[in-house]
Amino acid sequence: MYMASKSTKYVIGNWKMEPRTALEAERLFDDIQSGLKRIKNTEVVVCPPFIFTGDVQAVKRGAKLAIGAQDVFWEKSGAFTGEISIEQLQDSGVEYVLVGHSERRALGDGNKVVSKKLTVALDAGLRVVLCVGESERDSHGKYFAHIKEQIESALLHIPHTRVKNILIAYEPIWAIGVGEEAIGTHDLHEMSIYIKKVLIPIFGKKISSKVPVLYGGSVNRNNAEALIHDGEIQGFLVGRASMDAHHFGDIISFVEKS
Ligand code: PGA
Repeated sequence: MYMASKSTKYVIGNWKMEPRTALEAERLFDDIQSGLKRIKNTEVVVCPPFIFTGDVQAVKRGAKLAIGAQDVFWEKSGAFTGEISIEQLQDSGVEYVLVGHSERRALGDGNKVVSKKLTVALDAGLRVVLCVGESERDSHGKYFAHIKEQIESALLHIPHTRVKNILIAYEPIWAIGVGEEAIGTHDLHEMSIYIKKVLIPIFGKKISSKVPVLYGGSVNRNNAEALIHDGEIQGFLVGRASMDAHHFGDIISFVEKS
């Protein structure tokens, strides 16, 4: 597994329910992987749909491009029709798991479920990307309390020894999938600082400062440079733009150079 240091940056692609076929998934994974030859300081991860995990694993060469999962079930085994366990993910080469993505939350995953999924993944030794984000911004700043609640409900009972495997992806729902209208750098900077502040009473100052905060929501090659430069973040969670190897590669280059 990639050895992350304090300065490691991350670019994680979330393919959601794309592409249509295993062959397309293999090609896309391979194209992304081929573009990573000069990348040294950035950990790049792709999260395909579960069904293509084995296919991308089969074309994976070396450790430059890690495989993630978009979700996991919270029980380790048993009669749970349609679910995927953490051991099954690990066995197919998965190193990262997203939990609490807003599209999973919209389908019913509340804070309790997100917490259980996070715990099972951390217990198994995987790296977990906890996704948080408000659906809208009010003028009184209530959205800050919403983010705090999402983080605390997931992390309050996590032992300090597990923190090294936690990443937080801040993904405001209003900025996901909308194209050019991502967050402004000032607002992102403010939220990243706020997220670190929320972590301090839970894990202490030293450990909290090491938790990578990523941004997601319409990241593209036009906004990535400014967001990584001025947003006080350690990387991106990318949806749509991760489905195009060149576009994704451009975003990775901006992060690598930052
Ligand atoms: P987007 O998706 O980059 O297409 O906005 C981001 C996400 O949902 O993680």
